[in-house]
Amino acid sequence: MSEEQQKIRIGLIGFGTVGQGVWKNILRRREELTMETGAELEIAGIAVRDLNRQRDVDVPEGIITDDPQRILDDPTISIICELAGGTSAALEWSRKALEAGKTVVTANKALLCDHGEELLEAAEAHGGRLFFEASVAGGIPVIKSLREGLVANRFNRIYGILNGTSNYILTRMEREKLSFEPVLAAARELGYVEADESLDLDGWDAAHKTVILAWLAHRMWVPSSEMLVEGIRRVTLDDMNFAQELGYRIKLIASIQRLGEAGRLALAVRPTLVPLDSLMADVSEAFNAVRLEGDVAGPTVLIGKGAGQDPTSSAVIADLVDAGRAHLSGVHPRSRSARTGDATELAALEDICQEYYIRLTVADRSGVLAEVAGAFSQCGISIATVIQRDHDEDGTASLVLATHLCSEASLQNALAIISAGESVLGEYLVCPILDPE
Ligand SMILES: NC(=O)c1ccc[n+]([C@@H]2O[C@H](COP(=O)([O-])OP(=O)(O)OC[C@H]3O[C@@H](n4cnc5c(N)ncnc54)[C@H](OP(=O)(O)O)[C@@H]3O)[C@@H](O)[C@H]2O)c1
Repeated sequence: MSEEQQKIRIGLIGFGTVGQGVWKNILRRREELTMETGAELEIAGIAVRDLNRQRDVDVPEGIITDDPQRILDDPTISIICELAGGTSAALEWSRKALEAGKTVVTANKALLCDHGEELLEAAEAHGGRLFFEASVAGGIPVIKSLREGLVANRFNRIYGILNGTSNYILTRMEREKLSFEPVLAAARELGYVEADESLDLDGWDAAHKTVILAWLAHRMWVPSSEMLVEGIRRVTLDDMNFAQELGYRIKLIASIQRLGEAGRLALAVRPTLVPLDSLMADVSEAFNAVRLEGDVAGPTVLIGKGAGQDPTSSAVIADLVDAGRAHLSGVHPRSRSARTGDATELAALEDICQEYYIRLTVADRSGVLAEVAGAFSQCGISIATVIQRDHDEDGTASLVLATHLCSEASLQNALAIISAGESVLGEYLVCPILDPE
């Protein structure tokens, strides 16, 4: 068979936003992709939930089914591309495909985060492979960079903006001086917010991606429940103004730090103050960015579109080309990689040391500042800056504190003390202050 006639048959499970993008862009670049892969990537079967749903692209009759099992059972299909989402059925399909020795390509970060270890083991045990470039930062080739281009490095720190929806909301709030709710409504209208809004708004989508990056960089699966995760719901326009006054902008930053001699890992997703003159501060709208601090290469920053049909399908297609090449060569590099991890333990709160921004709403009466300052001092935290703004209308005030370096444990102790008193009213916001270098 000549190279041009050779085909690699792919089964798609899921033909929504990303699935249709994969179809469209494989057709659009068919010749180049065939040359790059060494064989034609042929989508031979597509499984969906609802056969009657209108699609944006036309596909030949007979290749769409509402039975994913048909795709999985087809012995001529060697690559299963899971683009349905969710974690229960997607786990079953992916596991079955890998156990049958097929290769699985997925964009599903929740699946990877919860079951990556098991799926990679299944791939290794049965000679298949698992590819998941599109699961982190959409169109940005961050996984390839970690796995290939930067393979000689250890990473003491990786941080970035991994959730486009939060970044879009924060950008519009700040630029247009709007509060959270109307911008959230606009983001919903544009279809930017996941059906489970908590994934975007409470930081869990970024947390799933952080877990995947931590595994790639350190070979350690960290349960997302062990991370410090907070989304953007508590960030107010006042916080943005206070941050600006202090020389910062608020971004939802995901971070992975390797701390101390033992290299204990600290993973977090939190609203964070980033200096106005830093690269992260300029990453706006739905863009994502990742800074990989390699000990050999130095820092590398990748910025691009973290979601959407075309960027995500670009990453999926890159995986399909890799999977196709591996299939043709018959060489299946280990999915789990022989590289040993450089971290075995998680950091304690005492190990995490940084500067913090704290915004409290307090009763507007004398003695409150002394009470709050006393709690911080009792916990060994020194305050760098204080801003107090009275709200004449309701007898409260905003009290903003920026700390010098202190541990997360000390900070939590101080917050527990002031929360137990009567001066602090309602919710408060705590943001780490990023040291960008
Ligand atoms: N959209 C993005 O920008 C983006 C970015 C990065 C990663 N991802 C990830 O990519 C994956 C797909 O996202 P998407 O936005 O393309 O989702 P989507 O538009 O909701 O499409 C999901 C597709 O899966 C099909 N499906 C769902 N359950 C099924 C079942 N039980 N059996 C057969 N088919 C089933 C649906 O069928 P019907 O069409 O018949 O309903 C639909 O075609 C998710 O894991 C997501 O997290 C998406």
